[in-house]
Amino acid sequence: MPYSVPWSSRHKKVTGGLPFSLSNSFAEPLSNKELIERSLARDDQNIVDEYHNHSLEYTPNGGSLDVREEIANLYGSKITADNIVVFAGGQVALQTAAIALLNKNDHAIVFTPGYQSVQVAPLHAGCQITKIRIYPENRWQIKPDEVEAAIQENTKYIVINEPYNPAGTLMNHETQQRLKEIAEKNDLYFMSDEAYRLLEHDKKDRLPAMADFYQKGISACTFSKPWGGCGITIGWLAFQEMSIKEKLFDVQYFGTACPSRASELQTMMALRSSDDILERNIKIIHHNLSLLDQFFEDYSDLFEWERPNAGAIAYVKFKGPLTTEELGAELAKEGISIKPAYVFSDGIEDYDDYFRIGFGESIMPKALEALRKFVEKHKNSWLA
Ligand SMILES: Cc1ncc(COP(=O)(O)O)c(C=O)c1O
Repeated sequence: MPYSVPWSSRHKKVTGGLPFSLSNSFAEPLSNKELIERSLARDDQNIVDEYHNHSLEYTPNGGSLDVREEIANLYGSKITADNIVVFAGGQVALQTAAIALLNKNDHAIVFTPGYQSVQVAPLHAGCQITKIRIYPENRWQIKPDEVEAAIQENTKYIVINEPYNPAGTLMNHETQQRLKEIAEKNDLYFMSDEAYRLLEHDKKDRLPAMADFYQKGISACTFSKPWGGCGITIGWLAFQEMSIKEKLFDVQYFGTACPSRASELQTMMALRSSDDILERNIKIIHHNLSLLDQFFEDYSDLFEWERPNAGAIAYVKFKGPLTTEELGAELAKEGISIKPAYVFSDGIEDYDDYFRIGFGESIMPKALEALRKFVEKHKNSWLA
């Protein structure tokens, strides 16, 4: 397997454990106490009892029926519990799918900048890849003509991330439709990492999930982001084409085949309170976004702010004299973490001026205040 150095091995040496995070991409984390309180407020004593008393035996491979039923409710009628496979987190789901569906003679299309696991999963599966670059000029939209031009006889797989990490932008409907037609015409699997789906700032902008939209579409999802449940470590794949299920199971078998029952129950508790939790999280995001609007208006000579419309992340251009890797190292000295360009597009200079900020947490304004102090201290020398 070709080995990729994970961004985190470089990044966490600089930013690990800093007090002011503008780096995290999840919505406000839940607490277990809160999950239980919300369940009791819904009169759902049964799930609380099961949480306290459940057996520590293995769960079924690919997740228990009850949690898969709950997850299937997030999709349309073509997706039932049978069309869901549960994993120990989103990254595992992405890796497993690539290994299960690709071999070394196949070709896959990926996009950069992007979340590293999305880009490298097909590479780790041993297949050839074409990496297509996307750019801020059109809000990071994929150009379908470029995708069509990249297709080879052995192309089998396209992987996108929608809503898009790092910029928090959304694909437009026409692009999604065109990409689906290209995938259909060429009989491709279309993997869509939808880690930030359901966190659209305006619900009206939400795109169909790929699993609902296309017969060979696969939606990858994680409990980590919209519901702020990274510690639950539950992710899943949703798909219509049942022929892939056996392959996923076979690969999953050699990793973590059975999710923890406690995690499954926490997932069910959160999903049953999903509307409330998402509403709370979107409120925090809107509040933090308004602070960011003000901040970037105050420092428009130093930063280019492309307002996101989904998730709790934005990709910001720094117009000062440092690369964002240098900026990140300077900020880290003051206890502030950001995610520089190399996290998403290592080795491609075009993007060196970009950095990602995250703003899903209610403590984010404190980190923004620390950033303001830092900018005040340096702005004159940067602008000189
Ligand atoms: C786009 C995207 N996909 C997948 C993941 C990984 O999810 P998990 O934490 O469940 O492994 C992340 C986490 O940052 C992400 O941003």
